[in-house]
Amino acid sequence: MKSGNPVSLTNLSEWSDLSRHYELISKKDLKALFEEDPSRADKFSLQGAGLFLDYSKNRITAETMEKLFSLAKRCDVSGKIEAMFNGEKINQTEKRAVLHIALRAPSSQHIFLDGVDVVGEVHETLSRMADFVRRIHDGTWKGYTGKPIRNIVNIGIGGSDLGPVMAYEALKFYSHREMTFRFVSNIDGTDFVEATRDIDPSETLFILSSKTFTTLETMTNASTARNWLLSALGSQDAVSRHFVAVSTNRAEVMKFGIDPENMFGFGDWVGGRYSMDSAIGLSIMLAVGPVHFYEMLAGFHEMDEHFRKTPMEENLPVIMGLLSLWENNFFGSATRGIFPYEQYLKRFPAYLQQLTMESNGKHTTMSGNRVTYDTCPVFWGEPGTNGQHSFYQLIHQGTRVIPSDLIGFFHSLNPVGPHHQILLANLFAQSEALAFGLSPEALRKQGVAEELIPHKVCEGNRPTNVILADRLTPATLGRLVALYEHSVFVQGAIWEIDSFDQWGVELGKVLAQRIIPELGEQSGPALSHDSSTNRLIELFRKKRLKGA
Ligand code: F6P
Repeated sequence: MKSGNPVSLTNLSEWSDLSRHYELISKKDLKALFEEDPSRADKFSLQGAGLFLDYSKNRITAETMEKLFSLAKRCDVSGKIEAMFNGEKINQTEKRAVLHIALRAPSSQHIFLDGVDVVGEVHETLSRMADFVRRIHDGTWKGYTGKPIRNIVNIGIGGSDLGPVMAYEALKFYSHREMTFRFVSNIDGTDFVEATRDIDPSETLFILSSKTFTTLETMTNASTARNWLLSALGSQDAVSRHFVAVSTNRAEVMKFGIDPENMFGFGDWVGGRYSMDSAIGLSIMLAVGPVHFYEMLAGFHEMDEHFRKTPMEENLPVIMGLLSLWENNFFGSATRGIFPYEQYLKRFPAYLQQLTMESNGKHTTMSGNRVTYDTCPVFWGEPGTNGQHSFYQLIHQGTRVIPSDLIGFFHSLNPVGPHHQILLANLFAQSEALAFGLSPEALRKQGVAEELIPHKVCEGNRPTNVILADRLTPATLGRLVALYEHSVFVQGAIWEIDSFDQWGVELGKVLAQRIIPELGEQSGPALSHDSSTNRLIELFRKKRLKGA
């Protein structure tokens, strides 16, 4: 379906074909599908760009996959992939190209946008970042009082926080342990106070990370940081030694008092949630060093190449995207769980929440029509095995099916005792239990009392993807993030939505700006919100301003 095609997705013959096919598949369960086809694990698993994916425990047959590929072809997914890689303005509502793939392209590659080679610009910035990082690490860059920098505080929110903090946690094993890294995002002052309470201002560098450099939370935290620093060091001159900026907005950065020499930029063709591998990743590079950062970029690039060049039938992000769509649009699964069996990936689900839901949580097609089908499911998750002792009960026996991705590594970075074997055994066991469950017959054979059987039955037929890699390295992290980025792309391409804008977040920002001054007034012009909002504001005023 070419962009602007008036035929709605659900009217396509490929869609109707899938709907009819769903009626057949939904009558079978995973147990039956595995019994019918002993080669299922071989058939529905593949290796690509250093990752292994077993998707055999999805409610699919070979026919399902063929039909899903036909839908992808009809929706011109390959053409849309090429359009992105070629720098076409596929972010139509913001009239922008979408070129995060250029952030990890090798310097030998050239991608031209409006006559400028963006890869050249990217590598220039990377070199400046690497040079800066070396100066911090070797102590050549000194704080205002002459001390070396030991603490890095990244101030940013959304894509200017979630990627850096996720990658910092994910790559902690490789990090400069002698340094302290903190990430401040929330407008809640507690975030700033807790992040800075035990660090010495004279040894602290703030990275102000904001694509726009106008985001309320980030700018408020930035001025609090400047006050905190100035009250300790006493001179305005200290700012230039303790603040750098990462942004696309040079004018605002200068207005804040940061020398453009200390600013690292990127193009407006990088979306916030796709920016952790741009200069927004400066804190990551400071944590793990330039060599590891470049390795991470190489991992991203490997998956980009796989995505662009591999036929759909063996293409990891295409398959992941289609499976997610199959569950979402045909089985009606409204959420997807992300469960990394790797402690270092503890922030990965939070990172994916923005990547997936800010990208594909849309109700309007590119041509401006209301969609007639569901778009993005809710993504959520926690690391295994912690989740098993909390919400997995619902995944096994709840009334809703929650397809999930279980992510693990063959080797641990911290091989202590039997831990890793137990961890991976749990991952495999969960995937098995969710698929095949526990039948009343099996329980009877175990001698379980009849009245307990209904409570102990696990129906199974809960789909999982199992994603495995050798070990968590910077390159593996890059591959993993790119896998999800591109799987989000595939779904957005089929749903015919703009996966790269985020208009839905604006309304709340506008209304907050209106309410901020109203909270500071004891009384004033009559409040003109709805009765609920008026009352909440009045209550706040009474409690806070009148000391009630
Ligand atoms: O409000 C949403 C959003 O615009 C995200 O898309 C973005 O990642 C975040 O805010 C932060 O924006 P900025 O980097 O411009 O401060």
